[in-house]
Amino acid sequence: MRGYHEIIIEDGIERRPGRAESAARFLNNDIPEMQEAISAQNRDIFSSAFNSFTQACNTCHTAEDVPFITIEVPVERVSPVK
Ligand code: HEC
Repeated sequence: MRGYHEIIIEDGIERRPGRAESAARFLNNDIPEMQEAISAQNRDIFSSAFNSFTQACNTCHTAEDVPFITIEVPVERVSPVK
C-alpha cells in the first residue's frame, strides 16, 4: 500500500516534471530501503539506513541545483516526549 509520502512525491513529479528523475529514484529506491530498515526493528540496521537516507536527500539537492540545502542526521532529540 502506498503511504502519504509516496502520494505527495507522485504529485510533485506531476507538477515538477523536470525533477522527475531524481524524485523517482527517491520514491522507488530510497524510501523502500528506509521502510525495510524500519521493519527490521534493529538499531544498527536503522542507523545505517538512516545515514544513507539522509545522504539521498542531499544527493537530490545537489542534482537539483540546491546543494546549499544540506540535511544532517539529528544529534539531539527534539521531541518533548521522554
Ligand atoms: C527529488 C529531489 C529531492 C529529494 C529526494 C529531497 N529534496 Fe529537499 N528539496 C528539493 C528541492 C529541489 C528543493 C528546493 C525547493 C524547490 O525547488 O521546491 C528542496 C528543498 C528542501 C528544503 C527547504 C524547504 C524550504 O523551502 O525551506 C528542505 C528542508 C528539504 N528539501 C529537506 C529534504 C529532506 C529532509 C529530504 C530527505 C528526506 C529531501 N529534502 C529530499 C529536492 C529534493
